[in-house]
Amino acid sequence: MCGIVGYIGQENAINILLNGLSALEYRGYDSAGVSIKTDKKIETVKTKGKIMDLASLIIEKKINLNGHIGIGHTRWATHGIPNTINAHPHFTDNVSIVHNGIIENYRVIENELKENSITKTTETDTETIVLLIDMFLKDMIPQKAFKKAVGKLKGSFAIAAIFKDTDTIMLARNESPLVVGISDDAVYTASDISALIEYTNKFIFLEDGDIAEITQNEIKIIDKNDKNIERGIKIIEWSKESAQKGGYKHFMIKEIAEESESVKNTIQSRIDTNGNIYLKEELEIDEDFLNNIDRITIVACGTSYYAGLTAKAVLEKYTNTIVNVEIGSEFRYSSPIFSKNNLFIAISQSGETADTKESLRFAKQSGLNTLSIVNVKESEIARMADNCIYTLAGPEISVASTKAFASQLSVLYMLAFHIGNIKGKDVKKEVQYLLEIPHIMQNTFKQTKKTTQLLAKKYHKYKNFLYLGRGIMYPIALEGALKLKEISYIHAEGYPAGEMKHGPIALIDENTPTVIVSPNKEPFYSKTISNAEEIKARNGKIILLSDKESQIADDILNLKSMDYLFSPFVYVIPLQLLAYYIALYLGHDIDQPRNLAKSVTVE
Ligand code: F6R
Repeated sequence: MCGIVGYIGQENAINILLNGLSALEYRGYDSAGVSIKTDKKIETVKTKGKIMDLASLIIEKKINLNGHIGIGHTRWATHGIPNTINAHPHFTDNVSIVHNGIIENYRVIENELKENSITKTTETDTETIVLLIDMFLKDMIPQKAFKKAVGKLKGSFAIAAIFKDTDTIMLARNESPLVVGISDDAVYTASDISALIEYTNKFIFLEDGDIAEITQNEIKIIDKNDKNIERGIKIIEWSKESAQKGGYKHFMIKEIAEESESVKNTIQSRIDTNGNIYLKEELEIDEDFLNNIDRITIVACGTSYYAGLTAKAVLEKYTNTIVNVEIGSEFRYSSPIFSKNNLFIAISQSGETADTKESLRFAKQSGLNTLSIVNVKESEIARMADNCIYTLAGPEISVASTKAFASQLSVLYMLAFHIGNIKGKDVKKEVQYLLEIPHIMQNTFKQTKKTTQLLAKKYHKYKNFLYLGRGIMYPIALEGALKLKEISYIHAEGYPAGEMKHGPIALIDENTPTVIVSPNKEPFYSKTISNAEEIKARNGKIILLSDKESQIADDILNLKSMDYLFSPFVYVIPLQLLAYYIALYLGHDIDQPRNLAKSVTVE
């Protein structure tokens, strides 16, 4: 989704802005632009396309972009098609702004502008903001004009504005993240810390309703009650290298390769060698509550939702509690039934996903005990929940989520064992096994890399795929199908294997390969193989992922036998690899697939 970068310091702003925007490319975007305050003028360059297109345009047009104050943006279209005129920044002679989010009352503002004979030239909601500021600038100084305009906005926004007549950047945020980065001789802003980790590890996270004025030496913030406020500086230890490709062709393959390491990081600091889990510091929830917990409601979207769905069986088994796993966009408009000791869990890699965030808000308003499982430090969902357990996967840059999934699973498993332990279950054996999982995952990655590549070569031209699994492997089949469609644009459906005969079987013919995910665990294995027979009888091709040989498969991807409960950690790896290599054969933009965004901050 959209990204913001801003700089005010002694360097030439343009290089820092382009660098920062490149670091935000992973979020997904369709156009980009920058505005720089040069000598008494604001210069703006923007274009449909990628940062490289923007950089070429700047060179081609030979525009003087020398200046120490600037803002930049990557746009993911919501209002108006992706084209150059709709791209940000939006500007007048006096002011230029970039905006993330959606202005819900932009038509009302548009009418107010019309009454003052001011008309828009773009289809965007954002242009109304800049025209409003410009209108107020006739009667007041930039800081006041900005504040007055922001006061009229309804919706979600992170805004950065620069002005012809002042050396400041004005910022505003409401329900859309905005951070301020601080170094010795400059101040930065961005919608996401990854844009700035090359420059600083010191950040201030603005809160809803904040308006900030930044200069090279000073940061002034007023809160939603119009009071001056100090927001603490947080140190974020993400290294620059961890957000780079490190010799891999794509972030996605790098992140699959790092998957075992990210699980290791996530669990090792929380489990000692005697198999004791230490979640108490992060989970400041009364043990009495956990002991008497009577329902767990998990809400998430996409891959994070599948992590919740996978862990449902484990949580139910160890906590003896009903576990509901819900999709964010559905949950927030439903009428859920909560119980007395209901734990609510929001899972999100980015910590920004609007549907998950609003579900969390709803749970909080309903008085629930809330926990978030989040990867991005200090993100919205992390900060909003009563408690947060971070997945320590490091930055996940590729749009398709991989290593975050396995880390989310590891937190959910730890949580199940932790609550199980409180409820009197002996979980030592399970915890010891969890500690071995990173090693098994690492071997699986090495062992299946070549085979999945060969499978991708054989199958990449097919137009439809079915993915089947049973029990704990059903959500893994869903995740495999999601990965394939996201990056290869091949239609893929995940289904519970036993449900296939109730409809999807109509799709089966020699042109629809089925990927079956089935460890050798009864009764699941035999039942799934029966479903495979039904496919074979209709000339369907079968790719089997299992630790048991079967004559039925056209191709088999042999995995090592292991404890069934933990097999999702391992079986998901070849599915991610298969999607990756198929997309590679098809020549797609793997890390930034079309139409997708890394953080989905709109509904
Ligand atoms: C899939 C994918 C998306 C995200 C979903 C939720 O590869 O990336 O389906 O999983 O948008 O995102 P987070 O976890 O950031 O809330």
